[in-house]
Amino acid sequence: MVPAPHSPAPADADALSIGHVSVRYPIRRGVFARVRGAVHAVEDVTLRLAPGETIGLAGESGCGKTTLGRAVAGLEPLAAGRIAIGDRTLSEAGRPPRRTRADRRRIQMVFQDPLAALNPRLTACDLVTEGLAEHGLLGAETREEAATRLLAEVGLGKDALWKYPFEFSGGQRQRICIARAMALRPDWVVCDEVASALDVSVQAQVINLLTDLKARHRVSYLMIGHDLGVLRHVSDRMAVMYLGRIVELGPADAFVDRPLHPYTRALLAAVPVPGGPRGAARKVLRGEPPSAANPPPGCPFHPRCPLARGECRRAMPALAGDADHLVACHRAGDAP
Ligand SMILES: Nc1ncnc2c1ncn2[C@@H]1O[C@H](COP(=O)(O)OP(=O)(O)OP(=O)(O)O)[C@@H](O)[C@H]1O
Ligand SMILES: [Mg+2]
Repeated sequence: MVPAPHSPAPADADALSIGHVSVRYPIRRGVFARVRGAVHAVEDVTLRLAPGETIGLAGESGCGKTTLGRAVAGLEPLAAGRIAIGDRTLSEAGRPPRRTRADRRRIQMVFQDPLAALNPRLTACDLVTEGLAEHGLLGAETREEAATRLLAEVGLGKDALWKYPFEFSGGQRQRICIARAMALRPDWVVCDEVASALDVSVQAQVINLLTDLKARHRVSYLMIGHDLGVLRHVSDRMAVMYLGRIVELGPADAFVDRPLHPYTRALLAAVPVPGGPRGAARKVLRGEPPSAANPPPGCPFHPRCPLARGECRRAMPALAGDADHLVACHRAGDAP
C-alpha cells in the first residue's frame, strides 16, 4: 500500500518530513516584558516533501506560511513536533534546531525581498560563492570561475560579477539569491514568495528559472505564494493554510478543479484561475482571519464559513480523506 503523502514515513530515508510541527511566538507586555500569551503561528502541521517534489503553499497573509518555511530551514525553534530527513532529526520541540553544516547545505531558503537578503557590501561574485567557500566546496575552481558558472545558470552574464546589489534590478537580484541557494546543490529549497515583489513579466521569468533549475538538479521546492494559478502551474501538490494549520492538501490539479474546503474555494474565487470555479460558485470571502493569539474553538474557519453548523463550532476537524486529497472540514462532503 502506498503511504499517505502527508504522513511522515521514517522508512523513506530521502524524504523531508514535518511531523505535527507547531511554532509559537511569545507575546510580551508591560515594563518587565512578561510573557502574556503566544501567537500560534504554525499549529500541528504534518507534511512530507519527497525528493524532487514541489509543494505549493498558499493562504491569506498571517496564516503561517513564512513561519513554516523558516522552521523547515532551521530558522525557528519548534514548540511541538519534529522535522527530519528520513530518521535523522533536524529540529524537535524543546531544543534549538540541530543542523550540521551538511544539513544546512541540503535545505536552503530564498526570501521575498532580495535586497534585504543580500549583503550590500559584497559583489555578485562574492555573494554567489560565499556558501561554497564557507562549506569548502570550491574544489579546483577559483571563486571567479565558480561565480561565472553559477551566474550563467540563472541567466546573468560575466558583466554581473563585480557589481553590487544596488546596481541590479529586482529580478536580477532575485536571480542572485537563487544562484546563492543553488550553489550548494541543495535537496530542498523553501521559496518564500520569491516573485511577489516583481513585475508580472519578471515574475514569470523567475518562476520559469526555478522550474528549469528543478529539471536540471532535481531539487524539491516548498513554494510559498499567493497566486494559486502560478502555484498550480509549478507544483505537484498544493496545500492551503488557515490560522497556522493545513486545511487542505492534494494534487495540484485536483486542488483547483475539485477544491474540498470552503476556504480553498473562497481563495480560488478571489483569484480567478483557469479552470477554477465560475459564476455562482464565485463567492467572495468576508471578514478577517481570527487572531492567531486567540484562535476560536472548533474549526478555525467556522466564524467565516458559510457552511458552519454546531459541530464546526465545537470540534477541530482532522486533516483526512481518501488517498492523496486531504481536507480538514466537517462539511467537506456537503459542500456545493
Ligand atoms: N517574529 C515574530 N514575532 C511575533 N509574531 C510573529 C513573528 N513572525 C510572525 N509572527 C506572527 O505569526 C503569524 C504567522 O506569520 P507569517 O509571517 O508566518 O505569515 P505568512 O502566512 O507568511 O503571511 P504573509 O502572507 O503576510 O507573508 C502572524 O500572526 C504573524 O503576525
Ligand atoms: Mg510570509
